[in-house]
Amino acid sequence: MAEKDSQLMEKIVALCKRRGFVFPSSEIYGGFAAVYDLGPYGVELANALKREWWKYMVQMREDIVGLDSAIFMHPKIWEASGHVGGFSDPLAECKACHTRVRADHLLEEIGVVADEKMSETEINALFDEHRQNIVCPKCGKKDFGTVKKFNLLVQSNLGNFTGDTSVEPVYLRGETCQGIYVNYKNVLDSTRVRVPFGIAQVGKAFRNEITARQFIFRTREFEQMEMQYFTHPDNEMTEYEKLRAYRWQFYLDLGMKEENLRWHKHENLVFYAKEAYDIEYQFPFGFKELEGIHARGDYDLTQHSKFSGVALEYLDPQTNEKYVPHIIESSVGVGRMLLAFLTEAYVEEAMENGEMRTVLKLPKKLAPVKIAVFPLMKNKPELVAKAQEVFQALKSEWLCEFDDNGNVGKRYRRQDEIGTPYCVTVDFDTIGAGDPSPDGAEAGDAPLTGTVTVRDRDTMQQERVPIVELKQYFQEKL
Ligand code: GAP
Repeated sequence: MAEKDSQLMEKIVALCKRRGFVFPSSEIYGGFAAVYDLGPYGVELANALKREWWKYMVQMREDIVGLDSAIFMHPKIWEASGHVGGFSDPLAECKACHTRVRADHLLEEIGVVADEKMSETEINALFDEHRQNIVCPKCGKKDFGTVKKFNLLVQSNLGNFTGDTSVEPVYLRGETCQGIYVNYKNVLDSTRVRVPFGIAQVGKAFRNEITARQFIFRTREFEQMEMQYFTHPDNEMTEYEKLRAYRWQFYLDLGMKEENLRWHKHENLVFYAKEAYDIEYQFPFGFKELEGIHARGDYDLTQHSKFSGVALEYLDPQTNEKYVPHIIESSVGVGRMLLAFLTEAYVEEAMENGEMRTVLKLPKKLAPVKIAVFPLMKNKPELVAKAQEVFQALKSEWLCEFDDNGNVGKRYRRQDEIGTPYCVTVDFDTIGAGDPSPDGAEAGDAPLTGTVTVRDRDTMQQERVPIVELKQYFQEKL
């Protein structure tokens, strides 16, 4: 990891606000707990992550297709999936200050292994055993009540025009994959996929998380990137191992250091799951779940078949065998991945002049802005005009930023902090006599003549590149 200082999380949060990556939701109204907005650079980074994920999971795979299902779905889906009955976290309330905290997190903090899948009885037994050591993070007292399971589904009144409380509630989806399961037959009937195949989608999910901590790591509204792979029951575990390896490689290919990743095997499985692993990342607050990879058996299709009355079996066209496909999934949050890549990229380093700089050493393909273009000085119209020409020539290919504000050093610092790989500066040499324009053109009036300096974010080295060669130069570099 770039830096292991105790302030790293605060520094990342501050940079996100200062440089327009992440803003607290509804900030001018005092904020809205556990919800965040992506600023101009945050949305670029999130889009880049989604693009890379989609490329890896759909474009590069002939056996996986995409989907974009609606957020609102038939309420029965959430009964069939088990969310209405069992999608809950253990909640403990401090009797002194009424702070609500996840009981499994309180136990984890004192080194006791617990998880949200434990039954109410199991977690209460464990909680009681360690009660004397469990401290309220807000008031510091050791006075928690009985642990209760709290359902995480978020309800809405969609379509309920009379406010009738006896009407079955509609939910905002708690995970995107349910939209995949209920479209499994549509995809099979309308495309050329055959088992084994996968369906991938990126979309919003909502959960009434009890404790909203750690910035965008755990939020109540978030985006998931999920892929569900349908296999023959006999091949489920082989495909599962392949998917685990494939997902691990995704992070390495995007430049993550392997030492910052590790596997966590779930011991406490939901009854239908065969195996569940998380890829954990070393966030500033320690190794935590980044992505879940689960072998779910035939549970999902069987349940939806039972509740909908529609057969969801697969008839193998070659063998005529009929079976319910088993599902393996990979699931990761966009915000959580964004936080992981920010953590990985965040570097503070001393420059030659002794000053410190903060740099986001993001892989180039993830950098929100690829090239920044500066005129050396703002009050020299010929420099500004030439820099504008360069900017206009590059912006159709890459996301570029034009900046003529403040001294160049300050502009470099700003671009370093948002992770821009290259800064192009138009200076007096660009338009000067040292760089004669062909055909006797006046200095500064002929587009694409002269040279500029290109400064590399990571090495801070500068080189002079003829403007006519800039596009090709960046095509090779980016
Ligand atoms: N379909 C399986 C599923 O949803 P999960 O472990 O509950 O499994 C999968 O979630 C991933 O979604 C997590 O690994 C995490 O990256 C992301 N995620 C889950 N809850 C989140 C939350 N409240 N805020 C941000 N990301 C979340």
